[in-house]
Amino acid sequence: MGYSFDGCDTVALAREYGTPLYVISERMVRERLSEIRTAFLDRHDNTFALYASKALLTLDLCRIVASEGVGLDVVSGGEIYTAHRAGFPMERVYFHGNNKARDELELAIRLGVGRIVVDNVYELDLLSRVASQAGVRPRILFRITPGVAGHTHEYISTGQVDSKFGVPLGGDVLERAVRTALDSDALELLGFHAHIGSQLHSNDAFRQATGVLLDLVKRMEGVGLTTRELNLGGGYGVHYTSDDDPKPLRYFTDAMMEDVARHCARLHLPVPRIVIEPGRWIVAEAGITLYTIGSIKEIPGVRTYVSVDGGMADNPRPALYGARYAAIVADRPDDPADAVVTVAGKCCESGDILIRDIALQRPVSGDTLVVFTTGAYNHSMASTYNLLPRPAMVITDGGAHRLSVRRETYDDLLAREATLPGDVRC
Ligand code: LLP
Repeated sequence: MGYSFDGCDTVALAREYGTPLYVISERMVRERLSEIRTAFLDRHDNTFALYASKALLTLDLCRIVASEGVGLDVVSGGEIYTAHRAGFPMERVYFHGNNKARDELELAIRLGVGRIVVDNVYELDLLSRVASQAGVRPRILFRITPGVAGHTHEYISTGQVDSKFGVPLGGDVLERAVRTALDSDALELLGFHAHIGSQLHSNDAFRQATGVLLDLVKRMEGVGLTTRELNLGGGYGVHYTSDDDPKPLRYFTDAMMEDVARHCARLHLPVPRIVIEPGRWIVAEAGITLYTIGSIKEIPGVRTYVSVDGGMADNPRPALYGARYAAIVADRPDDPADAVVTVAGKCCESGDILIRDIALQRPVSGDTLVVFTTGAYNHSMASTYNLLPRPAMVITDGGAHRLSVRRETYDDLLAREATLPGDVRC
């Protein structure tokens, strides 16, 4: 019996579906969604939660999230379309993004998304025109840049003043935008949104941003806006390796809700509807990736490279962010992890290293390697670099398993070629 994940033998999964293979536990995703209910939605009136679908979006994920009563944060026409095709209730969808195209806004309006989170004044103008033409009045929030830096990798930090996201708070850009929206018959402005960054383990930055937002709500009262909704973003950290110290959801949400109540009392404001939108926290730990170990190269006195049949194409995070992962040899999970090796991907790129210096159970070619915490930002960020077909995805549920997304084929890789000859042979 190999290493067991959600009641399934991972070696048997690798054999049945092939590798690399994304495995997502529906049970674990549902556990997180139900924690959102018990720790946040049920404890605080007038709240709502979204799943930030950029972390992982498939039709199955849409259906799971829909059935648990949570909404979706989407950032593109493709994500909107996927939600629509899954039959997701579109009024529970929030459309984000710093450069939404006209056709994406048109699609969002045609399919009836619940909120459009306007990122900048260019978009405000474009959206007004699109909405007027369509004869509907979308509900909007303004994304603002709170000027708060979360302590995380620079590439996934978004709250600092120097950010491409959101309307800056300095000067009177926001005042003018709020006035324009209030004067417009085309749009209904409900409030504001801020997201400070990702993979955060401390609630400090969230608390600072909550204060900044409520001061802003007070300031905008002066412009004539009664804020009815505040979206406080996502970003709660998860466990990748023993260096991470993830906190329960309540550590973040209790602190934010206490601060909301305190600031609203201090500023004599009615408490607006509060929305959160974690992505990674919902799916990351519910996912693993299975690889088959191939070549093992020992450089005496230097290091041993253990190569797997995937790499930066199915998980670009180590190459992009220096992200660290934990892993286990599925065939001998109980053996001592006393072989320190470096797990390399198969892309033609020296930087394609999945895990540097990890202690493993003496890997042997042909073994199955389990890499943990790959549920978020792996499938969704995968590429076909080196024309590696993207992996299949299997969904498990307490011992049961089924195919959710099939493996890409070589013909899929050529499907968009304009000059593909008809008689494909190999
Ligand atoms: N809301 C907004 C507006 C966001 O921009 C994001 C993430 C989230 C929510 C969800 O953040 P989460 O709870 O998943 O941390 N590719 C990077 C992460 C980029 C996150 C971008 N925005 C990674 O692999 O770490």
